[in-house]
Amino acid sequence: MKQSGLVVAIVGATGAVGEEMRTVLAEHRFPVSRLIPLASERSAGTHIEWRGEQVPVEVLDDDAFEGVDLALFSAGASISERYAPKAVAAGAVVVDNTRAFRMHPEVPLVVPEVNPEALADHNGIIANPNCSTIQMVAALQPLHAVAGLKRVVVSTYQSASGAGRDAMDELRDQTVALLNFAEIKTDVFPRRLAFDVLPHIDRFEDDGYTREEHKMVNETRKIMGLPDLPVCATCVRVPVFIGHACSINVELQRPLDVEAALDALEAAPGLIVQRDSSSYPTAADCVGQDPVYVGRVRRDPSVEHGLVLWVVADNLRKGAATNSVQIAEALHAAGALA
Ligand SMILES: NC(=O)c1ccc[n+]([C@@H]2O[C@H](COP(=O)([O-])OP(=O)(O)OC[C@H]3O[C@@H](n4cnc5c(N)ncnc54)[C@H](OP(=O)(O)O)[C@@H]3O)[C@@H](O)[C@H]2O)c1
Repeated sequence: MKQSGLVVAIVGATGAVGEEMRTVLAEHRFPVSRLIPLASERSAGTHIEWRGEQVPVEVLDDDAFEGVDLALFSAGASISERYAPKAVAAGAVVVDNTRAFRMHPEVPLVVPEVNPEALADHNGIIANPNCSTIQMVAALQPLHAVAGLKRVVVSTYQSASGAGRDAMDELRDQTVALLNFAEIKTDVFPRRLAFDVLPHIDRFEDDGYTREEHKMVNETRKIMGLPDLPVCATCVRVPVFIGHACSINVELQRPLDVEAALDALEAAPGLIVQRDSSSYPTAADCVGQDPVYVGRVRRDPSVEHGLVLWVVADNLRKGAATNSVQIAEALHAAGALA
């Protein structure tokens, strides 16, 4: 007899995001009858903990999705490109955390607080946006609703965990090595990250921007349904383990004073607003938290109808696992999962 609840596979279950997915599924009491953790050959023979039990990690292969209702993918774009269609063919709905399908015209790219309506129309795959984009659009949407966006300029301060578990280990090892006057190894990051900041996330494109910066521009336009919105991004890696921050300059179509902006942000779902500028949120404040934190909201006097915001979130939570689980919850509530 089938247990009540859904069979949920996590592809990349041993990774930084995959581990957080498990935590969020449990915390949100998502109705899971069976959890199938999938990873590479490297994890064969290992176990993960799920609801107090040790569950063996299975090696991802073509037959891994038989009987699966929901597959949460977080093992890199090439894995999603190869296996997500197989999961859909086997009858699963896929929520994909990688860049593989985000800009595909038939794949919804969803932040549930911003464009939940996009979930109504999918072909089995729903894409989870880039981590910094998620927290930015969560804060932009309420301002757009009341005063219309005209232009956005953003600089990010992104943590090591945005590049995965090996990247966190590399930051730790570099930090320890530097403090001990030992040799520093750099494999994951393009240059030493410990005690430095790098304006370089993902590869450089021909126009001098990075692919991470392109993601923030293109994904913001798609999620917000504003294909011509001028957006300029500079993405920077900082020596922080978990939590991304963004400084966002917003130019609006219509006037909106700071108090009204704070009211709009405070009324929006998923945001925690710190009205008093001196009690700003930091990355460390957000670790292990689902919401997006907004602080230091102030006027940008350099343009007409300008505001500046400081927006922080746990990139492994709202930037990845929490947003994916919220998508699954919305699908489940709509009866769109078996
Ligand atoms: N980190 C973030 O903040 C964030 C946010 C949004 C989206 N994402 C995206 O999510 C994906 C994973 O990120 P992460 O930070 O969790 O990376 P990670 O810590 O490096 O974990 C990668 C996971 O993928 C698995 N994997 C790698 N190669 C595989 C293969 N050939 N077959 C099956 N599984 C394989 C790994 O399994 P093994 O342990 O067996 O190697 C591990 O479970 C990336 O595409 C990333 O861009 C990350």
